[in-house]
Amino acid sequence: MTHEVFPGELELAASLADRLALIIRQRPTVVLGLPTGRTPLALYRQLRERTRLDGLDWSQVRTFNLDEFVGLGRGDAGSYRSFMEERLFAHVGMDPAHVGFLDGRAPDLTAECARYDRAIVAAGGIDVLMLGIGVNGHIGFNEPADGLVAATHRVRLSEATRAANTLWFDGDLRQVPHEALTMGMASILAARTIVLVATGEGKADAVRAMIEGGVTSSLPASFLQLHPQVTVLLDEPAAGELSTAR
Ligand code: PGA
Repeated sequence: MTHEVFPGELELAASLADRLALIIRQRPTVVLGLPTGRTPLALYRQLRERTRLDGLDWSQVRTFNLDEFVGLGRGDAGSYRSFMEERLFAHVGMDPAHVGFLDGRAPDLTAECARYDRAIVAAGGIDVLMLGIGVNGHIGFNEPADGLVAATHRVRLSEATRAANTLWFDGDLRQVPHEALTMGMASILAARTIVLVATGEGKADAVRAMIEGGVTSSLPASFLQLHPQVTVLLDEPAAGELSTAR
């Protein structure tokens, strides 16, 4: 696991957008894994701008998002699908047939999770998976637990995670769903390349534990130490607790 530290989140987002634009140019059929949340907002803004100004072509790009709330799906306010349509997909000309997404309204959620893992495999696997990290060390919605789940699955959200998501529900915790569907640890670790982004001092403890601590299910992001191609991009506050920063 290597890490790079940027002065601020804008510099970080610009650098990652440059790398992604290059990847899309070199490999127009690339399969990307995408996160939602506060952290990727700057990245998606940069990608929208590069697409508009530089004519980046997304027509053959395939994407798979990490997770979705149970009970929500395409067109629903607060759904991660709507987040992605509003922040990226509608602006860059993604082919809807190339968008892989968990449907939180699927009638059979177990079947939906199995369908998703099969779809990722059928697409040839994820080439570049972008991840955020929760303050509790979760990746996707793989929350700290005695045991982690390998496949895509249904999960009960921790109260801390629900609270962190009120932003997408008018600040109203009661509207935040209690459950989600998420790629599992194996679905994540099967990606060829992983880029984890963390910004802000609130993530500094989780970042330190992920990079410098042991591999433990109480901090799911620590499992990324087992993957051969992980780059962690940090702004200075998020890197503030690393021993190299002291
Ligand atoms: P955030 O979420 O970008 O909103 O901090 C990251 C995560 O919980 O994975």
